[in-house]
Amino acid sequence: MLASGIMGYSAESFTQIAKGGAGAIVTKSVSTTPRTGYTNPIVVQTNTGLLNAVGLPNPGIDSFTQEIKYTKTLIHIPLIVSIFGYTAKDYSTTAKKATEAGADAIELNVSCPHVKQTGAEIGQNPKLLTEIIQQVRTTTKKPLIVKLSPNVTNITTLAQTAVDAGADALTAINTLKALAIDSETQLPILSNIKGGLSGPAIKPVALRCVYDIAETIKIPIIGCGGISNWQDAIEFFLAGATAIQIGTAVANDMNVFQTITKGVDTYLRQKHYRSIEEIVGLAHRK
Ligand SMILES: Cc1cc2nc3c(=O)[nH]c(=O)nc-3n(C[C@H](O)[C@H](O)[C@H](O)COP(=O)(O)O)c2cc1C
Repeated sequence: MLASGIMGYSAESFTQIAKGGAGAIVTKSVSTTPRTGYTNPIVVQTNTGLLNAVGLPNPGIDSFTQEIKYTKTLIHIPLIVSIFGYTAKDYSTTAKKATEAGADAIELNVSCPHVKQTGAEIGQNPKLLTEIIQQVRTTTKKPLIVKLSPNVTNITTLAQTAVDAGADALTAINTLKALAIDSETQLPILSNIKGGLSGPAIKPVALRCVYDIAETIKIPIIGCGGISNWQDAIEFFLAGATAIQIGTAVANDMNVFQTITKGVDTYLRQKHYRSIEEIVGLAHRK
């Protein structure tokens, strides 16, 4: 799947991603009302990954419903709408409108590390997380995916909270809270000061999170974080993911989905497996 936030909101870019071989698309996170993001600089390229604090800019769900409807006429893979808000009511209102517009599933962004009063601030708070998932659950019958933050002491506890509140699947993980400083100006580079790190740097952390969650949680886990080739994908399946999302790597290559799928197919064939299911969680034998 395409991970949330990488290709924005337009039907045209989603079509490109579908042509590039993605099995599903997650939209950038959308809220009840439009939101302007942060001022530049919003992205910094580090040696091993991308640091961003875009600030969740989005047109608001009312205007985005048109794009959902249009996208559904162009692509034939599931369209998962990622949503965020500041209250349970915000989340449930947006989920309802996205569902009515034709979303195939809803992903709850309760893990963005760089916007106050939403994202990770919700995902780190079991009471708030429960309230939001329960309320969204009453407004949509579509599969509900909860995207978890790695910026917590124990991700498994929060995964269990999400399952108990009614999540159908979990995405692990969103970006890691991080910082870049310019030695010349002697100041933080991002206008928001701190941002979220993605790309190869976070892969081992994401793998560990998926592995930890899979030890106790039985609903599907979607692995995400630093996946850029088929070997990375296989590692996530072995850790216990039943699907994967790709974000930063898409910025360099829109066809990365095809390349990874081919590599995974070859790996399975060479090792005489009939499907991915047969390798999910195998790393837990040790
Ligand atoms: C520029 C940028 C924007 C992002 N926007 C969102 C977003 O709107 N909602 C969300 O849940 N995650 C967002 N993410 C996080 C990604 O979906 C993903 O969880 C993270 O980047 C790790 O995967 P990757 O290493 O494959 O990029 C964003 C990431 C980047 C780099």
